[in-house]
Amino acid sequence: MNYQGVIKRYRQHLPVTKNTPIITLQEGNTPLLLSKSLSKIVGQKVEVYLKYEGLNPTGSFKDRGMTVAVSKAKEDGVAAVICASTGNTSASAAAYAAIASLQCVVLIPKGAIALGKLAQALIHGPKVIAIDGNFDDCLKLVREITAEYPITLVNSLNPNRIEGQKTAAFEICDVLGVAPDYHFIPVGNAGNITAYWKGYQEYKQLGKITRLPKICGFQAEGAAPIVRKKIVKKPQTVASAIKIGNPASWEKAEAARDESGGLIDIVSDQEIISAYKFLAVKEGIFVEPASAASVAGLLKMAKQGFFKNEILGRQAGEIRIVCVLTGHGLKDPDCAIAAIKKPKTLAVNLKAVVKEIGL
Ligand code: F0G
Repeated sequence: MNYQGVIKRYRQHLPVTKNTPIITLQEGNTPLLLSKSLSKIVGQKVEVYLKYEGLNPTGSFKDRGMTVAVSKAKEDGVAAVICASTGNTSASAAAYAAIASLQCVVLIPKGAIALGKLAQALIHGPKVIAIDGNFDDCLKLVREITAEYPITLVNSLNPNRIEGQKTAAFEICDVLGVAPDYHFIPVGNAGNITAYWKGYQEYKQLGKITRLPKICGFQAEGAAPIVRKKIVKKPQTVASAIKIGNPASWEKAEAARDESGGLIDIVSDQEIISAYKFLAVKEGIFVEPASAASVAGLLKMAKQGFFKNEILGRQAGEIRIVCVLTGHGLKDPDCAIAAIKKPKTLAVNLKAVVKEIGL
């Protein structure tokens, strides 16, 4: 049978019954690409894979969680869903609410979400409210609203979101046949790191994998509350998706780090943009800036010689590293245009064009 989305594929691992209406856009089943250029940089005995979550239906990993959250909301008979968002959650919630015929409300920080995401939220028809505050303010508001009124929260505080998102860990293990040694991931509100760790742990309990990866999360330098062990009141970063100062799943992210023997570290905006360009130029993969944080983290650690001891004594290709690329580059066209030199304009003149090409 054709692929029909993460609920059908992994239903025995998800909180669905035969009474759950399946609201799907056939999310999941995303590519796991071997990156030759990154493998070479990190070390000869290393294979670096990129889990390209930007190829989900609304262009980010949120769709995996949203299919479960919205299906359960529909099963529960609610009329409306609500979320706060730096952009991707709202795009996904709006699309899944549209096919479920549910009302949708999204609260976004004013002027702080990328253009593509704003377009997505608007076109799917939810009620979009821009708040004169940051993501953390928006999340606080939707938590207060959902505590009082009959409207379902579809941020990752909703456990059904985590359930759906853990399927990405299953896919990685199913494709590799083993768990990776390291799993690199950007951290914002910390739902996704929580979901991957849950997925890997469940697969181990089921005997589908024999060991667990070390989870390595990365926050942007100006929005790194977990690393700094302190709420960041005014988070700042070019990676608007992870511009979050008080993540909802803070403790769970720390648990994933500590239980797996991994780490959570910082990458600068410069390192993020450099990894962003690297992926586009060397791998032909266009991601949004937040997604490049995982690769920026890998490059930073490789530069520090972190993997040297790991590599000693291993066979070629024995160390497997997965970097999650969480969202598509078209989400944030302004960032791409700002990062690259503008094209030169010439007259309709063959000679001049040929000269400019350098032929
Ligand atoms: N990458 C992208 C592209 C994201 O949109 C997000 C979060 C993250 C990484 C971080 O994931 O929050 O689970 O730690 N975006 C949320 C949103 C906050 O509203 O779209 P996380």
